[in-house]
Amino acid sequence: MAHKVELAPSILAANFANLAADAELALEGGGALLHVDVMDGHFVPNITLGPPIVSSLRKAIPDVIFDCHLMIENPDLYIPAFAEAGATWISVHQEACRHLNRTLHMIADHGCKPGVVINPATPVGMLDEVLDIVHHVLVMSINPGFGGQKFIHDSLKKISALANEREKRGLDFRIEVDGGVAMDTIADIVRAGAELLVAGTAVFGKGDIRENARKLLQAARSATAAHA
Ligand code: DX5
Ligand code: ZN
Repeated sequence: MAHKVELAPSILAANFANLAADAELALEGGGALLHVDVMDGHFVPNITLGPPIVSSLRKAIPDVIFDCHLMIENPDLYIPAFAEAGATWISVHQEACRHLNRTLHMIADHGCKPGVVINPATPVGMLDEVLDIVHHVLVMSINPGFGGQKFIHDSLKKISALANEREKRGLDFRIEVDGGVAMDTIADIVRAGAELLVAGTAVFGKGDIRENARKLLQAARSATAAHA
């Protein structure tokens, strides 16, 4: 069953010296949740932020869903701290979890919605055994680590495959896409079956943040309307 199409601004591309204000503008423009990219310099070749920033942002923005995308090794070690800091959803990479089922249950046990993420080179079939216990599946449409990269087109097939599998098995997880989501890619992404659209550069990169978010969401929603 299809879910509502929603925009998840990725704060990775925001001005970190002005984080809460930038995030608020993206929400005013129609962002339904905030996507928070956590990188450890090991799982991906970049370092971003940890629980203290999530906690400060949570104080500034009390009511919004924080969709924390952990691009880190050994996520089990850090899930309690992110939950405590105010994460609402926590997703972990299939490639980073030796005991994926246990990790996903651990996220739920800490009061957060569990999500699983796959890199571009990981087939959808790797998730067969966890699709019934996740709240969302995040398909990376770039190699994780940096914003501003080019959308990998073959991700569309993975999104459709997941949407078909969900339908076939009568499951209810949401399908999220992350990487290169922009005005020129968003319609195809939505038509392929994704509902949660993560966008960093396209929202915060240049111009008016509120207006960027508004236009992206509008483009996404009109693609669904045209599709229906
Ligand atoms: C990259 C992150 C993304 C990033 C996307 O590893 O997971 O969330 O912010 O950036 P854009 O939207 O610029 O491709
Ligand atoms: Zn992300």
